Amino acid sequence: MERRAKTTHPVLEIIARRWSPRAFAPDLPSKDELASIFEAARWAPSCFNGQPWRFIVTTKDDAGSFQKALSCLREQNIIWAQNAPVLAFLVAGENFEHNGKPNPWSDLDCGLAMGQLILQAESMGWSAHVMAGFHPDKVREAFKVPEGFDLLAAFVIGKAGDPETLPEDLKERETASRERKPLSGTVFSGNWGRSMF
Ligand SMILES: Cc1cc2nc3c(=O)[nH]c(=O)nc-3n(C[C@H](O)[C@H](O)[C@H](O)COP(=O)(O)O)c2cc1C
Repeated sequence: MERRAKTTHPVLEIIARRWSPRAFAPDLPSKDELASIFEAARWAPSCFNGQPWRFIVTTKDDAGSFQKALSCLREQNIIWAQNAPVLAFLVAGENFEHNGKPNPWSDLDCGLAMGQLILQAESMGWSAHVMAGFHPDKVREAFKVPEGFDLLAAFVIGKAGDPETLPEDLKERETASRERKPLSGTVFSGNWGRSMF
């Protein structure tokens, strides 16, 4: 299904095309495809080139790990995420490795890596959907995440599927028009609140 963004200015095609599906086809990405998707994250910029991102990845062909990951999601996400072939977690190192001091930019670095991952996936015909609705403590325990690392987000990767497979409320969200605030509300010039465009 296509849900292209109605942009007010031209953007890269994959940015316009990307969206976050909840219905998924059963297709499983190959190991090489997944490697490319995570390679894109690897080359993200980061403060002091600290590369604080870590990923825990489970795939449907390892049912035990996938179910363990699924049980760490909040109920409203389990309903649809269980149909995706890949379920993963984004983890952030809290401290710089070069001096052991807290890294205030770690979350930003991880967000940049996640953005690159999502666009790489999109360019290869896969979609990613990020989730805040999960239980960080459960993930830490289930996957033995050490101290000094923060659970930032869960996400799935898969091929967008048929919205008819979703419960009614999610089907509506899956097909609703995609909205964004106007640039005038988020990009300022001179003083705060004075729109640039
Ligand atoms: C940090 C973050 C957390 C999110 N958490 C959830 C979530 O728990 N469940 C969900 O269904 N979608 C979640 N989303 C997806 C957003 O709802 C979605 O990106 C937003 O509505 C815009 O839609 P689009 O990605 O299709 O353009 C999250 C996205 C981000 C970036």
